[in-house]
Amino acid sequence: MLVHGDLYRGNGRLADRTHALHRAKISGSDVADTITDLLATRVPPGAAVLDIGCGRGTTTLRLANRLRPRQLVAVDASTALLDTTRDRLGHASARGSMICADFHHLPLPDKVADAAVAAFCLYHSPTPAGAIAEIARCLRPGGTAVLVTKSLDSYAELDHLVHAAGLDPHATSRPSLYESFHSGNLHTIAATNLTVLDVQHEEHVFHFADATHLARYLTTTPKYRITLTGGIPALAAALQQRLAPSPYTTRSTVSYAVAVRP
Ligand SMILES: C[S@@+](CC[C@H](N)C(=O)[O-])C[C@H]1O[C@@H](n2cnc3c(N)ncnc32)[C@H](O)[C@@H]1O
Repeated sequence: MLVHGDLYRGNGRLADRTHALHRAKISGSDVADTITDLLATRVPPGAAVLDIGCGRGTTTLRLANRLRPRQLVAVDASTALLDTTRDRLGHASARGSMICADFHHLPLPDKVADAAVAAFCLYHSPTPAGAIAEIARCLRPGGTAVLVTKSLDSYAELDHLVHAAGLDPHATSRPSLYESFHSGNLHTIAATNLTVLDVQHEEHVFHFADATHLARYLTTTPKYRITLTGGIPALAAALQQRLAPSPYTTRSTVSYAVAVRP
């Protein structure tokens, strides 16, 4: 099973996870669109924009296309994911620079950015307030941050399915992946270094159409300890034999804070 340090070493796991989730989504707005909508009303054309924890660059690309920034900087701790982001920007003829760094220590000057995004990454930090302090330092006074995370109970229905299938007896008692930074503490943690203007929550619903689709997603999650060998086919067979027929439905609340540097 994956441990945290391995999670983003390559780009395959995140691509598989994102693909499985996107295929399953039956309700909920496109997150990259929502982020750019939130920023578009506040950020002038020609701004300097940071995408912190950019991953595969889905949001970075949307920011490049919609906001037309003068400077776009994508930051991530994974060189593999920065390579993917660079390629995707290049294929779209969009410009941006990549920085490999830990978001607790951004190698950027003070007050350099008009806007910053940190989507689905700060929950990887045991001290997200420290990372937000760094983001605030890099924003000019009045600059805007959009911070995005998920609810503590995200995908809890899958914990019950994994438990019921006998694949991980502790699936329902394992800590949430979003423990340190989630919908419930987003406002409080963001407010330690920024002035929070608004927090929005939206429920996303996912329908995994069959056991193979669910198995594809489960193999990408670091939450469970599934010892079954044989990869996705074996996992899909076990799910099919041991659970009621699909579809398998699960939910997550996605939360957005819009905040400014005072
Ligand atoms: C789930 S992905 C989110 C990617 C993207 N923001 C999105 O919304 O699709 C989390 C990203 O955070 C990055 N990350 C995790 N801890 C980090 C840290 N301490 N410093 C910089 N990046 C980090 C990972 O490498 C990964 O690319």
